[in-house]
Amino acid sequence: MPNPLANKRIILGITGGIAVYKAATICSRLVQAGAQVDVVMTASAQQFITPTTFQALTHRRVYTDMFDIPSGENIPHITLADEADLLIIAPATANTLAKLAHGLADNLLTAIALATPALMLIAPAMETDMWQHPATQANFGILKRWTNKINFIGPATGRLASGAQGLGRMVEAEEVVNQAQHLLAQQGDLAGLRVVITAGGTREAIDPVRFVSNHSSGKMGYALATTARDRGARVTLISTVALPEPFGLDIVRVNSAAEMLNAVLSHSNQADTLIMAAAVADFRPKTVAEQKIKKVAETEGLTLEMVRNPDILAEVAAQKERGFGPRITVGFAAETENLMANAQSKLARKKLNFIAANNVSATDAGFAVDTNRVTLLFANGTIEELPLMSKVAVADIIWDKVKQL
Ligand code: PMT
Repeated sequence: MPNPLANKRIILGITGGIAVYKAATICSRLVQAGAQVDVVMTASAQQFITPTTFQALTHRRVYTDMFDIPSGENIPHITLADEADLLIIAPATANTLAKLAHGLADNLLTAIALATPALMLIAPAMETDMWQHPATQANFGILKRWTNKINFIGPATGRLASGAQGLGRMVEAEEVVNQAQHLLAQQGDLAGLRVVITAGGTREAIDPVRFVSNHSSGKMGYALATTARDRGARVTLISTVALPEPFGLDIVRVNSAAEMLNAVLSHSNQADTLIMAAAVADFRPKTVAEQKIKKVAETEGLTLEMVRNPDILAEVAAQKERGFGPRITVGFAAETENLMANAQSKLARKKLNFIAANNVSATDAGFAVDTNRVTLLFANGTIEELPLMSKVAVADIIWDKVKQL
């Protein structure tokens, strides 16, 4: 599974504010994700929390003083700055923002900020009046305009150190870690790729309270979406399911096949790749009752007349013939019998680059489980059978294939 934080060198700069307690969580999450974290604390930060906390979390020396250089070591602000992939400053006080905006380097952290070529992520934390002060806003503006290497997260609105509610609160630790992951992912091997993924089973309305659907949980589509995101792609996820929203994706909610068709056509036009992992209903009720269908005492049953839904991938193929649409299209074939023959015919009919044939009668693959076993059939006739693995691992291999194409 791609993990943009693994083996990355991250400097966590901590300045003096009550939000320093969140820095401990950020530090712990980064370390657990496999990053090498070097903590640099200002003198004010040490008034709130001791370096020992961060030394225990990172198992590494914590840097507090520009001139505390053990013999034999290089000057820390030069070596740390040079080797870092990302500098996070969380919390960042108004004082530190001012120093950064004006190029001051009077402590180790601001010296590193000035010296590093790394990406920066800054999480301001201060009282509302300090944040809204024209001086702070001017400094914020300078830093934002300087270079796209400097990224801000927050501040948020909520309870402040004074006890008041207002704008200025540091965002939660989880958000900082997610954003750090997102920034580092943008250096991944799918950077620049725009992808559209569909997930979940479509819901075809019978009446205002009932629908026809299937067992798709959305897990395969979400695995494709998050792995693409973590490898740097820009992802639009068109989903019928209400799974927790992963960060860093554009999510479009739909219900029916008709809604999914509209969303796919409008979003995949600007995309490089479309992967349809959604289980789209081939049929829908011919009419949708305006009111809830009632039981009538003398009737034994109910007959629903169904009509064909549009074939979304076939519509995309037709668009491509007219010169629009994604360069690469990938489908899944969910089958309970004649897996390979049916998948082969869908590959050709829907003019796909490749299709993942999915035997959905197995209990450890297909619908609603975390694992899958697929065979990839390519337009050039190549066939690749994959063993049982997690849906995330399947997704990773599918992206490898897209990349090769
Ligand atoms: O969501 P999970 O619980 O994780 O389950 C994953 C999955 C089993 C749903 C997934 O791996 C899968 O196999 N998805 C395809 C389901 C499906 O609709 O298969 P199909 O053989 O009916 O359709 C073939 C392809 O055409 C699919 O890519 C489908 O999205 C697409 N299609 C289908 C019908 C239609 N009207 N328009 C389409 O574009």
